[in-house]
Amino acid sequence: MRTIAVINQKGGVGKTTTTTNLAHALVLNQHRVTVIDLDPQGHLSNSLGVNNLAQPGLDSVLLKGAPIEECAISVRPGLSLVPAGPELGNLESASLKSPKRATLLRDAMQDCFTDQDYVLIDCPPASGLLVVNALFSTHETLIPVSGDYLSLQGLSYLIGTFKKFGQLGHKIQEWFVMTRIHSRRRLPAQVMQTLKQYFPDRVLATRIREVAALAECPGVGKTIFEYQQKSHGASDYHALALDLAGRRTL
Ligand SMILES: Nc1ncnc2c1ncn2[C@@H]1O[C@H](COP(=O)(O)OP(=O)(O)OP(=O)(O)O)[C@@H](O)[C@H]1O
Ligand SMILES: [Mg+2]
Repeated sequence: MRTIAVINQKGGVGKTTTTTNLAHALVLNQHRVTVIDLDPQGHLSNSLGVNNLAQPGLDSVLLKGAPIEECAISVRPGLSLVPAGPELGNLESASLKSPKRATLLRDAMQDCFTDQDYVLIDCPPASGLLVVNALFSTHETLIPVSGDYLSLQGLSYLIGTFKKFGQLGHKIQEWFVMTRIHSRRRLPAQVMQTLKQYFPDRVLATRIREVAALAECPGVGKTIFEYQQKSHGASDYHALALDLAGRRTL
């Protein structure tokens, strides 16, 4: 089982879009997948057609100790979701005194999801306690990088955080995926080139293009494979699933 946190503190780079559509692409390639919505915004849940406010989810796991597998709901054949739940945003203040606050998710996931091939965690655009919980739960991260001017800023902070985890004995491997690519612009190619200079072998070959259908999907609670199977969005996420599946992990 591979647990992968989809992470970048920069907002709007395509974390949730990637988690949703990569998960469904993996399922269509016969993998069993669980996705965890670690963002109090609940966008991952919404993207899969689930009303995040309707039932408890990860909030009751992290705040009240509910068993995480009992909070997973089947959203498609082969695909399960642990929704964020309405109270997840309270975690940062509620658990400040607990010495185990940084490993709540890791402890909750212990010996769980053993029949799954992939667990993908959709992180919020932040670097606080929720994200620290994601990092302690995994040794593998997928970092969507949009090809705009400011997209490289902040990555050094993120990689510095991974190094600090490594010094604590918790290694974290990163994969970068270029997202929201406008193919006629030169900037994304320059950003990708810079990334490759700093992180050779860590930049996935697949690039996710900016296509209107991907932006329309969350509004109807469908993945790109349900909404527009023949779009560039579907073929890009299908390619990403194959790309990632072929990469060696730690
Ligand atoms: N490849 C794409 N083509 C078109 N629109 C996209 C693409 N990727 C993401 N979007 C749109 O851009 C917006 C931000 O995407 P998304 O929510 O996936 O980013 P995020 O990193 O999860 O954001 P946040 O930091 O708020 O969690 C959404 O409206 C989404 O539909
Ligand atoms: Mg998101």
